[in-house]
Amino acid sequence: MPKRYLVTSALPYANGPLHIGHLAGAYLPADIYVRYLRGMGEDVVFICGSDEHGAAITIRAKADGVEPQGIVDRYDRLIKETFEKVGVSFDKYHRTSSELHHETAQEFFRDLHDKGEFVKQTSEQYFDEKSQQFLADRYITGTCPKCNHEEAYGDQCENCGSTLSPTELINPKSKMSGETPVLKETTHWYLPLDKYEEWLRPWVVDGKLEGKQHHDPSEWKPHVLGQCKSWLDNGLQARAMTRDLTWGVDVPQEIEGAEGKKLYVWLDAPIGYISATKQWAEENGKDWKPYWQDEDTKLLHFIGKDNIVFHCVIFPVILKANGNYILPDNVPANQFLNLEGRKISTSKNWAIWVHEYLEDFKEQAEFIDILRYYMIKVMPETRDSEFTWKGFQEANNSELVGTFANFINRVVVLTNKYYDGKIPNINSDLVIACSSEEGKTSSFDAELNAIKIHMDRIGEFIHKYDFRSALKELMSLSELGNKLLQFNAPWSLIKTDEETTKVVMNIAAQVVTALSVAVHPFLPDTSDRLRDLLNLPRIKNEDFKIALNLLSENKALISAAHEIGKPIHLFTKLSDEWVAEQIQKLEDSQEKTISYPPIKEEATFDDFQKMDIRTGKILRAEKVKKAKKLLKLTVDIGMEERTVVSGIAEFFTPEEVVGKNVVLLANLAPRKIRGVESQGMILMAENDKGELDFVSPSEGFGEGFTVR
Ligand code: MF3
Ligand code: ZN
Repeated sequence: MPKRYLVTSALPYANGPLHIGHLAGAYLPADIYVRYLRGMGEDVVFICGSDEHGAAITIRAKADGVEPQGIVDRYDRLIKETFEKVGVSFDKYHRTSSELHHETAQEFFRDLHDKGEFVKQTSEQYFDEKSQQFLADRYITGTCPKCNHEEAYGDQCENCGSTLSPTELINPKSKMSGETPVLKETTHWYLPLDKYEEWLRPWVVDGKLEGKQHHDPSEWKPHVLGQCKSWLDNGLQARAMTRDLTWGVDVPQEIEGAEGKKLYVWLDAPIGYISATKQWAEENGKDWKPYWQDEDTKLLHFIGKDNIVFHCVIFPVILKANGNYILPDNVPANQFLNLEGRKISTSKNWAIWVHEYLEDFKEQAEFIDILRYYMIKVMPETRDSEFTWKGFQEANNSELVGTFANFINRVVVLTNKYYDGKIPNINSDLVIACSSEEGKTSSFDAELNAIKIHMDRIGEFIHKYDFRSALKELMSLSELGNKLLQFNAPWSLIKTDEETTKVVMNIAAQVVTALSVAVHPFLPDTSDRLRDLLNLPRIKNEDFKIALNLLSENKALISAAHEIGKPIHLFTKLSDEWVAEQIQKLEDSQEKTISYPPIKEEATFDDFQKMDIRTGKILRAEKVKKAKKLLKLTVDIGMEERTVVSGIAEFFTPEEVVGKNVVLLANLAPRKIRGVESQGMILMAENDKGELDFVSPSEGFGEGFTVR
């Protein structure tokens, strides 16, 4: 058994808000795990923070025309607040822009440098002359040499998953300026990953470290192991640990050649877990070292699948090369969550943004937990999964309302009705109907044991990172409660046998109390509301374990004569109209995002002066034979009439354009289009969907005036 746990969730880039895919990937599973461990009285620290360096930040800053610091300050605050609101219970949410982090990361670099772990190498790399910077990683895009995907990054193709280096890209383009880069020499410090293969392979494949069993590799998810093995099989290569950038952690300045060099973000960011732990320790009067350096610590990294190699190969190598650190026991990476049949996409705004969801439903407290519930239910644990609003509604209506809240409500109503809200005192020798099988008999003790079995199994599933099954187990505990009521029918039994009815209702109250404990890792707010309803203190550390101990001794979780509150509403059904509204909202959000083509190359004033642009009025219009898109227009530009062939037939009929004022490029060299000579070009506005509209001067301005 581990003595303590250190649990991390991937540090989110502080370049935008969180969407549901983030939450389901790396944060919610870790939160359930940690809340459960706390409930079992374990020593556990849960670490996260903002990843504030790297291309994600600087490209965003550039796009918004602001400084990177402004971007990270803004999103660090928003992300931190969002996590708090959805109940992701980090012990520390730190920042990689903090001084403590910079020092910690530099110390790591210095140590590896002084030990001679790096190889210093000069090579030619892509350089953007316009923005005067080297283009590594996400600063450069191009066509993937493996799958021809046109937007592969300099470090990875997100389409086929291959790792790439910028020089492999076909048609490379700078993300900063859109320019084609040139090659230029630069020097960096490389970590020769292949040098560590000797211990890395047995560690990954067999879970063995220096001959000793380190962890059980069969506990790792197959897709995680698969990715690691394919990395190893493809041969590890040296990876540069520094970059030529202006934003990031400086290479320690005393090292020769450090000037202008920053740490590679994937060296800097995972060290953020360590600096965050240091910060937590300092604030809480604890020692951070055992959490990172003592073999008795179980270290776990919760991440999304795009981060696997960094957590299973590169970071472990860095930790091991330092020599003082433990390695992760497991890296339970999740796959991706899709949304309504499509990949979640930040750039296309196809996402449910968590802070927006919270804002939309802030008046109804239960919405936080409905979201948590549904996301656990569809968590992409071993394969990509799907969020749909219809599924969200079904999960709420049939499970949270139909099974969970319905059971609790019946118990609270009947307890108030029969016993003035006081848990009845019972004779525990009486025989009742069994909750698990119709027609079988059971007893108070046997039912307590049945509750315990469900709670134990919840724990077992959580330990296997199988949160979906753990949630199902929680629901079968409410199902047990429902069956107990159904098979014993206290509402009729009370007419003939008051004493046995008391036993049934007492057990039902035990199930409700067990639910208030067991639901806490999954739906903490629901647990709070339930505890308030039961007039019991809210869940604290160790309560899960205390409940299990009581149950194993056949002791009640809620005692006789304890008075509970009046019925409350826990969850409410969601209508089909509500679902339609959510889907509509998602679709509407699509229209807001316009993709703007980049500004064209600079034109001089002389270039502009060459164009002769005039206003005019359309006199006649007709279709061009066999050309769906073309209209032949006759335009009066005051001094003369012009014939112009224009590609607007998809958007306008000839009738509706006659009489329109237009703007015409009058000195464009004449061209024959479909046999008709076109003497100029009508200027049209084109939106992001490729639809056209006239640029139309007002009445009185269409008589052949100049445009300049
Ligand atoms: N910011 C990275 C991402 O969102 C994750 C960093 S995890 C860490 O993909 F280990 F580097 F911290
Ligand atoms: Zn590819």
